[in-house]
Amino acid sequence: MTRNCPIGVFDSGSGGLTILKEFLEVLPDYDYIYLGDHARAPYGTRSFEIVYEYTLQAVKWFFDQGCELVIIACNTASAKALRTIQQKDLQHITKTGRVLGVIRPTTEIIGSKTKTNHIGIFATTGTVASQSYILELEHLWPNIIAHQQACPMWVPLIENNEHLDPGADYFVQKYIDLLLEQEASIDTILLACTHYPLLSHKIKERLPAHIQVFDQGEIVAKSLVNYLERHPTIEQKISTGRSVTFYTTEHAERFNEKAALFFGKNIQSKHLERL
Ligand code: DGL
Repeated sequence: MTRNCPIGVFDSGSGGLTILKEFLEVLPDYDYIYLGDHARAPYGTRSFEIVYEYTLQAVKWFFDQGCELVIIACNTASAKALRTIQQKDLQHITKTGRVLGVIRPTTEIIGSKTKTNHIGIFATTGTVASQSYILELEHLWPNIIAHQQACPMWVPLIENNEHLDPGADYFVQKYIDLLLEQEASIDTILLACTHYPLLSHKIKERLPAHIQVFDQGEIVAKSLVNYLERHPTIEQKISTGRSVTFYTTEHAERFNEKAALFFGKNIQSKHLERL
C-alpha cells in the first residue's frame, strides 16, 4: 500500500497547534496538514448550525487534499459537528477515511484522575451548551459529576495576545470563582478548549494546590498513537515525510505572528482563499 496521505488537523484558529505540537512529540515521522479557520474564529460563541457548516467544509477540504485521517483539534467543533459528520456526511465524502475529535479521548482519561468524583470543566459557551462532556462522562464514568463553566472571554483574550496582560486576570479569576462556587469538592479541572493551555499558568496559580489541572494535548496524542496501532489499514496510508504544512483562512502573516505562542516555534503558513 502506498503511503501518500497526510494527517489533517483542524481548529477554528490557533488552539489546535497545542494538540499538533504533542502529535509531533509522539508521532514525528508522519506528514501533517494544519488548518486554522481564523477568518471565522472564534467558533465558541457561534450557533450549532454555523459550527457544523464550517466544520463540514473544513473536513471536505482535508479529504480533497488527500487525507485519510482528520483530527478535529477543537472542542467546540467536536462538540457541535463531529457526531453528525461521522454518522451522516462522511459516507458521502470518503470510502475509507476517518474523522476523530478530542472529547472522547479526553473523557476516557480524565475520569481516572479525580478522587472526589467531582470534575470541573472550563470550555467555550458552545461546548458547554452542547453538554457533550457531561454526556460522555455520564456514559463512561457514571459515578462522576461534572461541573461546567463557560469562559467566553478567554479565547478572544488569547487570540488577541492579551492573555498574559494583568487585564486578563479579572476574567481568569471570574470563571474560576464561578466554577468553584458550583462545587467546592472539585479536585480535577479539565481545560476543555485547545486555546486554554496558554492560560494554564495563570489558572493554576489561582487555584488551591490540591486541585489538579489537565489540558488535552498529551492525552489526545497518546490516544492517536493507540488509534493508529488499532487501525493498521489507516496507519499504512499515512505518509512519512516528516513535513507540516500550515494553512489559514486569514492572512498568513497574522497566523505566523501568533503561532509560536501555541506551537513553541515559528511557522510559515499559507493563505487559503476559501473553504
Ligand atoms: N479551540 C477551540 C476549542 O477547543 C475553541 C476556539 C473558538 O472558540 O473558536 O473549543
